[in-house]
Amino acid sequence: MSALLLSGREAAAAILADLKPKIAHLDPKLVVVQVGDDPGSSSYILQKMKSCAEVGMRSEHRHLPKAVTLEELLAEIDRLNADADVTGFIIQLPLPAHLQSHVPSIIRAIDPKKDVDGFGAYNLGKMFLSTEFEHLPPATPAGIVMLLEHFEIPVAGKHAVIVGRSNIVGKPLSMMLLNRDATVSVCHSKTKQLASITKQGDILIAAVGKPGMITADMVKRGAVVIDVGTNRVGGKLVGDVDFDGVQDVASAITPVPGGVGPMTVCSLIKNCVQAKQRQLAKI
Ligand code: GUN
Repeated sequence: MSALLLSGREAAAAILADLKPKIAHLDPKLVVVQVGDDPGSSSYILQKMKSCAEVGMRSEHRHLPKAVTLEELLAEIDRLNADADVTGFIIQLPLPAHLQSHVPSIIRAIDPKKDVDGFGAYNLGKMFLSTEFEHLPPATPAGIVMLLEHFEIPVAGKHAVIVGRSNIVGKPLSMMLLNRDATVSVCHSKTKQLASITKQGDILIAAVGKPGMITADMVKRGAVVIDVGTNRVGGKLVGDVDFDGVQDVASAITPVPGGVGPMTVCSLIKNCVQAKQRQLAKI
């Protein structure tokens, strides 16, 4: 079997084309804050700025030095919260080592109405309730859901197996798929007999950060495989899925790059539009 390629570039282009008139009308603005010079972050931010420009949305890249103190970063967040011209902003992760343990308080400092990454407790909590309250959902899980919708892949009644339990992908994605009536299993580094669980997945999502760890023998024949991995190996971007082997077993599979990545950027832009609409409506 040769699997259908789930192109995030194609899906994102279609969704962004629909958003373009709303963007022209609402004129939202995104600010991306980068601390230090992590090369992965620099390339993701470039992609975010490029997509904003393509869709006619204002964006700004604020670059802070690697040695910035927690107090200085929190002061920058306060300025962004108070700036009425800024619709939404994100603090690009990972942060330098001296700020790592402060990530929860840094995220907590972001005004929930401007939290277009959907990382804060308020937006995560709302998403927990039902699809109706997914106003600013976390960008990568929301992007995966939009990708499945774009390719008309049903979720209700399917067994979705997620490998990885991060706060920004695995955990929130489990809730978004549960809200859509999937039966969800979440696997992680302590899961025993991992392959016996992944092999049950009608939809298998890999979000671990280990290049090529999902091999063909771990995949159910005909499964839809979503690869969230973005691992840099010898200067090349590779996913968590052994694409060449798994594409013979799966019915559909995302490429890396060009799969989930463009969908994350697409959700970020969609969240900016949603944030602006809700700010104008004062809700
Ligand atoms: N680092 C990797 N992915 C993301 C993301 O979606 N948002 C932020 N802020 N940092 C990231």
